[in-house]
Amino acid sequence: TKKIKAALLGAAGGIGQPLALLLKQSPHLTDLALFDIAPVVKGVAVDISHISTPSIVTGYDKEDDGLVKALTDADIVVIPAGVPRKPGMSRDDLFNINASIVRDLAQSIASTCPKAFICVISNPVNSTVPIVAEVLKKAGVFDPKRLFGVTTLDILRAQTFSAEIIGQSNASSTFNVPVIGGHSGVTILPLLSQSKPPLKGVSQEQIEALTKRIQFGGDEVVQAKAGAGSATLSMAAAGFRFVERLIDAAFNGKSGVVEDSYILLKADASGSKELLKHTDNVELDYFSVPVELGPEGVKKILPIGELSEYEQTLMKKAVEELKGNIVKGVSFVEAKL
Ligand code: APR
Repeated sequence: TKKIKAALLGAAGGIGQPLALLLKQSPHLTDLALFDIAPVVKGVAVDISHISTPSIVTGYDKEDDGLVKALTDADIVVIPAGVPRKPGMSRDDLFNINASIVRDLAQSIASTCPKAFICVISNPVNSTVPIVAEVLKKAGVFDPKRLFGVTTLDILRAQTFSAEIIGQSNASSTFNVPVIGGHSGVTILPLLSQSKPPLKGVSQEQIEALTKRIQFGGDEVVQAKAGAGSATLSMAAAGFRFVERLIDAAFNGKSGVVEDSYILLKADASGSKELLKHTDNVELDYFSVPVELGPEGVKKILPIGELSEYEQTLMKKAVEELKGNIVKGVSFVEAKL
C-alpha cells in the first residue's frame, strides 16, 4: 500500500491534540508525526498510539532535531502551532509571535520536505499563508498549488448556522454555502445567495444577521470559553475534513473533490482572472476560492458565481481589509529574513 505521512506542527495544543486524534483515525495515513515545543507531545503520541489504525504515530519535541525528524518524508504538513491571544496582548503582539513561529516552521519545511502539501491553520491565516509562501519563494522551492490556508471552519459554520436559522438543524438536508475571501471578520464572505438548498423564506435582515454570525463565529467561542481560549475542537474537525479531502484528491485518485480554500490565486491563472470581475478589477494575490483538488494540489479554481447586491458590498469591504492583511504578511518576511 501507498505510504502517506502527515506531520502536525503544534500537536500538543488546543487544536493540535484533537486534530492528532482525528488524523490517527484516518484509514489513509501510514505515518503520523506529532511535533510541538511542549514536551508533552511525546505523551500525546503514546496515548493515541494505542488506537488500532494503520498509522504509526511518533511524538517529537525540540530535542534531537525533533522538527527535522517530524518533517522528513512528510507528504502533508498541517500547522496549528501558535499562541492564542491572552489578556493584555494586542493583535499586533499576537501577529508578531505567530508570524515568527510560522516563518521558522516554513524554513524547516523548505529545507526538509519542500514538496509537501502545506495546510496552514495558525492565525491570522490571511497573513500567515503569505508568510509561508514568501519563505518558500526565498528558498526557491515554492509551489503555489501545494499551499493552503484552511478556511473550512467558516464553511462548517455557514452550514450549521444556515440550518439553524430556518429551523432545520435536525433535518437531513445539509446546507452547502460557498465561503470565499479571507479567514477573519469582514474578510469572510459567505455566499448565502448560492446556498444549496436555497435559503427560502429568509428575509434580508436575517441574511445580514446570519452573515455577521458566520463572520464573527470565532468570537462566540471566545466569549463562551471566557478567557480559556478560542475555537479548538470545531477547528480540529474542520482541519481534519480538509486533510481528508486533500488525501482523497491527491493520493487516492478521487476526482471532483472541491473545497473552498485560501490560496495564491496564481496557482491557476484562469481562475484568478475570473475573480477580477467581482473585485472591481482590484488584484489580490490570495483569496479563499472554490478549489478543485487533484494529484498536484490545486487543480483548478472554480468560478465564484453571481453575487447578490448585498454580497457585492461585502466583497468591497473584504477586499480592502484583505489587501492590508496580505501586505502585512509579505512585509513581515521581507523585514525579518
Ligand atoms: N513549534 C511548534 N509548536 C509550537 C511552537 C513552535 N515554534 N510554538 C508554539 N507551539 C505550540 C504550543 O506549544 C501549543 O501546544 O502550539 C500549540 C498551540 O496550542 P494552543 O496554545 O492551545 O493554541 P490553539 O488554541 O491550538 O491555537 C493555535 O490556531 O486558531 C489558531 O489563533 C490560533 O494561532 C492560534 C493557533
